[in-house]
Amino acid sequence: MKDCSLPSRKECLTILAEYHVPPHIVSHSKVVAKLAVFLAKRLNEKGEAVNITLLEGACLLHDLLRVHDFKESDYNRFERNLPEQEKAKWQQLRAKYKSSSHEDAAYDILKDKYPALALAIKRHRYMVLLDEKEKPQSWEEKLLYYTDKRVMHDKIVSLNERLAEGHKRNAYQHGSAEQSKINTAKVDPLIYEMEKEIFEKIGLDPLEVTDEYIDSHSTSNYQPQSKINF
Ligand SMILES: [Fe+2]
Repeated sequence: MKDCSLPSRKECLTILAEYHVPPHIVSHSKVVAKLAVFLAKRLNEKGEAVNITLLEGACLLHDLLRVHDFKESDYNRFERNLPEQEKAKWQQLRAKYKSSSHEDAAYDILKDKYPALALAIKRHRYMVLLDEKEKPQSWEEKLLYYTDKRVMHDKIVSLNERLAEGHKRNAYQHGSAEQSKINTAKVDPLIYEMEKEIFEKIGLDPLEVTDEYIDSHSTSNYQPQSKINF
């Protein structure tokens, strides 16, 4: 029976289109979902109980409001002409959620209809691991948090590579190199611990799990790259 408190994959893609999420963010989110679902299935084979619908939906929608973090001057990095309708929607969202992070803004939008999914999204913020009360608790929350830190743009890479790129980008965006070094020294080791927890359970080497590995070891008909026009 369909769980009405969770969106289907098709519904997630409709929500992404409704919010004019840029195609490169949609591609990133689909790869996060692909990796997360792969790991979740391996965990389930080991006797865990990961809710795949919840996890996939949370991954697909985790960056719903990612544009919220961009300045208007960043739009020219998107390498395409942005329709006025898209820009207008983003301005409207920015005005509404100006003091919130993109994680909290997405939580606010989704919490009434999809509470568990919204909470997982709220808990994928990089710094959340330092917050005992708010850090990811369930497998679904942990897998979203972790897999987002394994996907650089739309490519699965090592934690090392992705975190280094993220730290460089954040220092550039926020301009506080000192604070970001302090944060990194505290948070990164916790992400490696999370990686260990997941991979010890499934019995694989994290570096072994790449796009190619998943494509050749997937047992289901899950099609993460299905063509949807936005
Ligand atoms: Fe992400």
